[in-house]
Amino acid sequence: MVGILFLLFPRALHGWYEPRLEDTCGRSGNHRDSSATGLGIRDDNRSELEKPFTDPGMWQCSICTHENDTSNLSCELCGVLRDLSLYFNNISEAEAGAKRRNKYSGVSVLARSLFASSSTKSKAIIFSDGSQDNRNATGNKQATMDALHKTYMPSKKRHINIGTAMLSSSLFPFKFDTPSPDDMVTTGLKSSRNFRKVVQIKDSVDATGKKMMDSGILQTEKDTSMDPCTSAEVDKLGGTSSSVPSSNQQVTPILDHELQHLSLESKPKSSKPKIKKPASISEYKPEPWMLQSEDQEMRRQLNLAIVGHVDSGKSTLCGRLLHALGLISKKQMHKYEKEAKEKGKGSFAYAWAMDDSTDERERGITMTVAVKYFDTEKYHVVLLDSPGHKDFVPNMISGATQADAAILVVDASVGSFEAGMGVSGIGQTKEHSQLIRSFGVENLIVAVNKMDMVEHSKDRFNFVKLQLGIFLRSCGFKDSSITWVPLSAMANENLVTAASDSRLLSWYNGNCLLESIDSLPPPHRDVSRPLRLPICDVIASITLGQVAVCGKVEAGGIRTGSKVLVMPSGDLATVKTIERDSSSCNLARAGDNIAVGLQGVDPGHLVSGGVICHPDFPVHVASRLELKILVLEITTPILVGLQFELHIHHARVSASLVKILSLLDQKTGKASKKMPRLLTARQAAVVDVKLDKEVCVEEFSALKALGRAFLRSGGNTVAVGIVTRILDEAKV
Ligand code: GTP
Ligand code: MG
Repeated sequence: MVGILFLLFPRALHGWYEPRLEDTCGRSGNHRDSSATGLGIRDDNRSELEKPFTDPGMWQCSICTHENDTSNLSCELCGVLRDLSLYFNNISEAEAGAKRRNKYSGVSVLARSLFASSSTKSKAIIFSDGSQDNRNATGNKQATMDALHKTYMPSKKRHINIGTAMLSSSLFPFKFDTPSPDDMVTTGLKSSRNFRKVVQIKDSVDATGKKMMDSGILQTEKDTSMDPCTSAEVDKLGGTSSSVPSSNQQVTPILDHELQHLSLESKPKSSKPKIKKPASISEYKPEPWMLQSEDQEMRRQLNLAIVGHVDSGKSTLCGRLLHALGLISKKQMHKYEKEAKEKGKGSFAYAWAMDDSTDERERGITMTVAVKYFDTEKYHVVLLDSPGHKDFVPNMISGATQADAAILVVDASVGSFEAGMGVSGIGQTKEHSQLIRSFGVENLIVAVNKMDMVEHSKDRFNFVKLQLGIFLRSCGFKDSSITWVPLSAMANENLVTAASDSRLLSWYNGNCLLESIDSLPPPHRDVSRPLRLPICDVIASITLGQVAVCGKVEAGGIRTGSKVLVMPSGDLATVKTIERDSSSCNLARAGDNIAVGLQGVDPGHLVSGGVICHPDFPVHVASRLELKILVLEITTPILVGLQFELHIHHARVSASLVKILSLLDQKTGKASKKMPRLLTARQAAVVDVKLDKEVCVEEFSALKALGRAFLRSGGNTVAVGIVTRILDEAKV
């Protein structure tokens, strides 16, 4: 069937097919010898297509170079037509040839789902223009190229890499066919994306004090507006609906993922953009109220991310800290202890103060970022307790990207510290350190936890400090910006008061954790630029017709009663309420973590990853970016064509690597090689990436917080980077 599509639309499919072919050929040598790889391959192909074939016994496929018997009208391996004119003269023979091929060999699940309807007579394809899939007597699809495009590629820029999938899994290291752990997480956590929380707006008061995502405390309702394809539509595609046979279970995430971008209905009328012509940023003048240094009576807000390997004790540390500061009542603590014991998880009692969903408590792991508050002498601290488990790194990125500073919690016990450092596999102590540094965090407290497990040993502490210190330095942390604190969260040792255990006292007389937090330098606040509030979470109140968004103001300021622009939809909204740590206030400035109640906006237009902006200075919305990246410790090289997940602040989108523009010399930062074919661990490069969906973004030079990017593939962060250029700005 793929062959038939090639016959009908060879040029279109050629475009999808080609980039992966170059990569695959270059590596495997199965399809083309290595001398024919590289960018010149397109031209080679074209000239070969025009060349008459000389060997009377065999013909060579112009695409995959497979030697075919003359009786084959299309390539046995990839289905490409030998000669288009032959097809029209000899349709039935061509069809027979196509049928002879094993229908599913090497064809991706996606390709199968797209083309299944051509072979399943009972299922008609409804095209986006409303026309049906008509067939002539020979059974050939008589859809126009345009109709096919409109149906399967709602956006012209959309890229479905059928070629990759066809050339298949075994040859290609980054398998698009296989759901990545990130896909699993996406699917597993659908509630956070596809279910909108329904709550009285009053409840938004609690929103920032509870989970930022998936709080589990709110009544949920399916938000079909987020799902472009209903299950009925999926059925029309011949795909899977909710009742998937078990043997096809692995299909679901891929289809789900792909179908999110397919629309079989005419596009819903989007509300007219209300954006005026964007003004130049140089014209922006901050209003006096934004520049007021700080309200005298208010402490500065410090967004503090708690990160580290799974089970290192992050949530226990947060719970213990809050308890020691009197922010958890005795009664509440007693309740946690009793319930945790009943569930056989007695040691997690303090962690329950942060892990409040049933799932998290039953599994004993944090899955989403929890937010709590406490005060030190200098700061009003927003505590962001991140999940440490590998599967939830995407959630960690979304939450901890707001951090001004971080506490990296490491488990000092023998074997556990080593696991976090990735002695066997990639440890999250390393991954989180790299990520947190890429978020722009410069000041780090390393909490060497569970010292009770190692007899409060000075030697063990020094060993951890030495090993981890080398790595942190390699991430770009300065020695002078790292504070090392030995402690035991469980035993409340060295948290809010000086160490009391004689074994620790004998060699440590530095600051306790609370003092170390208070000693962090004040974070920089960008109040001189127009408002940017990236949306971390959305809380809608259907009853009151209001909606609230949560997030950290990254630039400028926001005031009640003012108008703001909601991007990427372009809606204008009025700020009704602002809440900081559950108490309402009239204004917030850069650095504040707030919940904002908005009026006059369609709740469906507020999405996590969107940005609330100054009405005259909208954020950029782009689908193609130039990034400067640093490749992390990967084992498989990154090749042109790689499909990956791109994270930019709270936005998360599928993307593909279009070009590696240049390799950078890490010492000079200058281009050392143009257009390399692949990237390996620790290399720096400038790359061109194409996104499946538009995202709100800024160039790093304009606003750092919105110009940082993280590339994830196969469940791991493969590279971190910054946006150097917006290559393709969307017209909103
Ligand atoms: P994730 O969020 O899932 O990554 O885990 P976490 O880092 O939040 O760890 P959590 O707080 O859930 O604690 C994991 C286990 O470590 C629990 O059984 C805690 O009781 C235990 N633990 C935490 N701190 C200490 C400590 O100081 N000493 C000892 N002995 N155990 C601790
Ligand atoms: Mg935890």
